Amino acid sequence: RVTRREDYREPDWLVPEIALDFELDPAATRVRAALKVTRNGGHDRPLVLMGDGLEPLAVRVDGKDAAWTMEGPDLVIALPGAAHRIETEVVIAPERNTQLQGLYASGGILCTQCESEGFRRITFFPDRPDVLTKYRVRMAAEKARYPVLLANGDPVAQGDLADGRHWAEWHDPFPKPSYLFALVAGDLVANRGSFTTMSGREVQLGIWVREPDLAKTDHALHALKLSMAWDEKVYGREYDLDVFNIVAVDDFNFGAMENKGLNVFNSRYILADPDTATDWDYDAVAAVVAHEYFHNWSGNRVTCRDWFQLSLKEGFTVFRDQSFSADQGSAAVKRIEDVRGLRASQFQEDAGPLAHPVRPDSYIEISNFYTATIYNKGAEVIRMMATILGPEKFRAATDIYFDRFDGTAATCEDFVRCMEEAGGVDLAQFRLWYSQAGTPRVSATLAQDGGKARLTLKQTVPPTPGQPEKAPMVLPLKLKLFGRVTGRALCDEQLVLLNRPEQELVFGNLTEPPVLSINRGFSAPVVVETDRTPDQLAFLSAHDDDPFARYEAMQQLMLDTLTAAVRGAPFDHGPVIEAVRNTLADTRLDRAFVADAVLLPSDSFIGDQMDIVDPEAIFRAREALRRELATALAGQWRDAYEANRANRFEYSPAAKGARRIKNVALGYIAASGAADAPALAFRQFEGADNMTDRQAALGTLVNGRSDERAAALAAFYDRYRGNALVLDKWFQTQALSTRDDTAEAVEKLAAHPDFTLANPNRARSVIGAFGVNQRAFHHPSGRGYRFVADQLLALDRINPQTAAKLLPPLGRWRRFDAERAARMRAELERIVATPGLSKDTFEQASKSLD
Ligand code: ARG
Ligand code: ZN
Repeated sequence: RVTRREDYREPDWLVPEIALDFELDPAATRVRAALKVTRNGGHDRPLVLMGDGLEPLAVRVDGKDAAWTMEGPDLVIALPGAAHRIETEVVIAPERNTQLQGLYASGGILCTQCESEGFRRITFFPDRPDVLTKYRVRMAAEKARYPVLLANGDPVAQGDLADGRHWAEWHDPFPKPSYLFALVAGDLVANRGSFTTMSGREVQLGIWVREPDLAKTDHALHALKLSMAWDEKVYGREYDLDVFNIVAVDDFNFGAMENKGLNVFNSRYILADPDTATDWDYDAVAAVVAHEYFHNWSGNRVTCRDWFQLSLKEGFTVFRDQSFSADQGSAAVKRIEDVRGLRASQFQEDAGPLAHPVRPDSYIEISNFYTATIYNKGAEVIRMMATILGPEKFRAATDIYFDRFDGTAATCEDFVRCMEEAGGVDLAQFRLWYSQAGTPRVSATLAQDGGKARLTLKQTVPPTPGQPEKAPMVLPLKLKLFGRVTGRALCDEQLVLLNRPEQELVFGNLTEPPVLSINRGFSAPVVVETDRTPDQLAFLSAHDDDPFARYEAMQQLMLDTLTAAVRGAPFDHGPVIEAVRNTLADTRLDRAFVADAVLLPSDSFIGDQMDIVDPEAIFRAREALRRELATALAGQWRDAYEANRANRFEYSPAAKGARRIKNVALGYIAASGAADAPALAFRQFEGADNMTDRQAALGTLVNGRSDERAAALAAFYDRYRGNALVLDKWFQTQALSTRDDTAEAVEKLAAHPDFTLANPNRARSVIGAFGVNQRAFHHPSGRGYRFVADQLLALDRINPQTAAKLLPPLGRWRRFDAERAARMRAELERIVATPGLSKDTFEQASKSLD
């Protein structure tokens, strides 16, 4: 069953109010719902309440038993009037809910996940985002097992019952779509704080976890307060309820969920202390806390009309959380990391069988569309509009958007119109970013002719499934020219809006040969091809005044060298070595920036540059360059290691930068084959006072064959066996190993007593990580493909949402040689032919075969 965007119709019935009553019990929870429904328009269609696996035990209309029928999973009731009161009753079993959608149990906590279509697994309801309802929730549960009872909104009453049970009532005054409903019951404690909003409202904050985790919640609470202040300052948006609660649970299908006033999080994005969380984890906790908090306006106060508009809230909210993180530390480093992530996931998605526009036209299972395209490309689309409008007009546009659409379910089109209105611009052609899939490619050639230079820009957008022809798009390209002799800028930075297949720009008054700096700050999410020489790229990597462009020049230089080596064309490591040498020596640069700049592009990013990916040749070429860099600059790596070595843990941009460059240096020291490298890494592993250094040392050792490797793996396991989040790192580090026996090793990992498919984090730490380990996954025997397919099929039976997310690596068969492609296709065919396959996995696998 395909759902199409063009089929959107307003809801037949609205539900202004609902009262929910839960008798909570893990084996059998009774859910009673009372809905006030009103007919929307002059039709005579019945009321359809969606269900998923529900059986109606009672149905009453206006207090009397009423006639009803089931249409598949849905409850259908013919109603005579314009307004009625509907009561239903069902029983559900949270402890048997392995899909982790709807009401389920995680480590003794009862919690909910409703986005996108989980509410219909709890009660019969018009479960679509354009039906906005005021919720009253009453719940009762055994007091000893579930002393804490939380729901959306504000607590209004509570009390004790006979038989050791108690109850609580919550009331959310803001009408909301059903996907934002949440309820939690458990033995939880809170790290409490408060925040006073700009209008003087005092908000009680609580981060709820199990008692042993309480000490790991300060960072999340702090990030929440920073986020609340940031949204006031940057967007003028203030929090609107008296309480804001976050609950962390261990079993969660994605990162977190923005339920009104009651966010539910995957515990990996809440818990952090120096002994168990890396700098990456700390940053991710802050970013996800901010993301979910920002949804209170971009998502909750203004929600989506239908799921095709998902990027309206997700793309915008990712843009908001990226801007927040950029403001907490180095904006340049944050941009580099975001672009690296975009290229690794979204560019790959856009180039494959699952490519789709930021506003898709159809889906089989909406859960499959929580993608890098909707989130990260969606954020780039917002960023481009912010670039085109400039900060003041962009802020004026978001003010209009929030004010005009507050309390409604809006569309991407509504958002763009606000941009046009406040910006005084016409975004007609720009809208193609919402409807056309595929990553645009720009070629830029600069020809000098005396004192003039002519820049020729050409764009093409590649065909994607269902979209063979593409129209030219609006690509905002920031560019600048530098003089090769003096290093000085030859012009101010310009913002060029490339909107035709081909455009030419002329620069005059040149006194020296110009070098082109283009797509500065990654102003457009496109692939740029230039004819810049290794010398020019090395020059830019040392002299460009845009840090992103410097990083990019270095990456391009590395990429050109590596792809030449893979193709068997002539190549010279010299320019890369010189450029890395200069960057390492430049003491004015932020250490975190240096660490990013001197890292070689990943195997899979190199593969993305080739028509047919040769994983072995890529691995060899990359290792060879790594070894050369390691030996040619051996002294500098040692210096960088020593200079940043001794420090007590501190979470600050400077301290993170020091750890970053130190650990990159450690990797290069190991790559040089230095005899003392394993001992050095092991010393760091044992002596570290933080997880960043400990995991980096383990990661370095895991790629080798030393005795220290086994010792470190055993010590890590013993130290952290009781901590699921850290044990995930133990599994993941091994699944990412560059050793040539990794395909075999992951099969053993999956048989380890601590491996389980029931916990999504654990499943992803092995299968997800292995799927992006290009050389290991594409082992010529095909065992990597078989392993992933086996695990995916096993997981599909219990948790389709998380299973389907593991499929994309198998779907990339077109990019590999005939033998690998045939093996990958065979696994996809086996998956599609499996009886009882979920529609989640069916959609991903069948689209990948087409
Ligand atoms: N809205 C949540 C977030 O981005 C994610 C929900 C994911 N839901 C899903 N069905 N995949 O913050
Ligand atoms: Zn989100």
